[in-house]
Amino acid sequence: MASYTDSFEASKKRSDEIRADLAVHPENYKMLTGDRPTGRLHLGHYFGSIQHRVEYQNMGISCAVLIADYQVITDRDTTEHIQDNVYNMVMDYLAAGIDPDKTPIYVHSAIPECNQLMLPFLSLVSESELQRNPTVKAEMEASGHALTGLLLTYPVHQACDILFCKGNIVPVGKDQLPHIELTRQIARRFNERYGKVFPEPEGILSDAIEIPGLDGRKMSKSYGNAISLGATAEETAKLIKKSKTDSDRNITFDPENRPGVSALLTTAALCSGRTEKEIADEIGDGGSGTLKKYVTQVVNDFLAPHRERREKYQNDLDYVKDVLHEGNKKMREVAIQTLDEVSDAMGMVY
Ligand code: TRP
Repeated sequence: MASYTDSFEASKKRSDEIRADLAVHPENYKMLTGDRPTGRLHLGHYFGSIQHRVEYQNMGISCAVLIADYQVITDRDTTEHIQDNVYNMVMDYLAAGIDPDKTPIYVHSAIPECNQLMLPFLSLVSESELQRNPTVKAEMEASGHALTGLLLTYPVHQACDILFCKGNIVPVGKDQLPHIELTRQIARRFNERYGKVFPEPEGILSDAIEIPGLDGRKMSKSYGNAISLGATAEETAKLIKKSKTDSDRNITFDPENRPGVSALLTTAALCSGRTEKEIADEIGDGGSGTLKKYVTQVVNDFLAPHRERREKYQNDLDYVKDVLHEGNKKMREVAIQTLDEVSDAMGMVY
């Protein structure tokens, strides 16, 4: 356990140093991030990552956003709704401020040269390194399935995503740090064996507080506690109304003992830019009914402009498809170039 804590401290320190440098030397960075198209993007994604991607993009950092369609089948055995999920993700990215002229949006399955990096990369990791990965273990347990070859090698797949475009910064949650560590090892080992092709990327950890789901657990579609960016105002009101609180009418911020009330307060705080305490004090003895009304209003106010922009894209699916095709095309060129360098370095040129 000590080694994970130590490496977390080291990663956090490097991450802080890089974050301080991003605005000074944006030209030195190439950022890659991605999401799995398993459902709709929600406020957790927005505050946890999407808003930072937009900030980095607008700072002039070269960015790319991957919709990781092949990763959907790491822990589930269906690709149902995948096309719809992918299009809806593009709509949310665009509505949130991702500018496709600056930041390509693309999918795994359109970049065979990225996936082909799996072959040399798999030779650079041992089975026990993969077995030890805490995220793989956690996902296997959550899936209730036997460990598939794809789930076991999922961190290698992610290394391909990051390295094919020579990404050197990857904004991640803490749970993804072991993947970044493995990506660094793969890059290092490849470079040592065959000559320098890849950078050793750094994980960028955000200081943002994580928005909890409406029940206080992690916000996740599968828990039914997530506010989707694209839901209607009425759907949002309904979801907040049926969230579980408690019978104490005096509203206080106490995440440990009052997870429901506190999750609502954090949601309102993030959407309104106020603090949880300020909101709790204002509501005082108003009870959870008053709290829920307030949360509904600030969440819907916050999301109204996003939803308005999103609707435009929803009514113009051809544009959404164009954005994706353009992103695929741009990133495929990058992948072909990198695979050429890999083949050169490995002497596989015939
Ligand atoms: N594994 C990430 C997730 O489950 C998604 C992802 C795929 C990703 N490839 C990536 C994130 C590369 C960062 C970089 O959310």
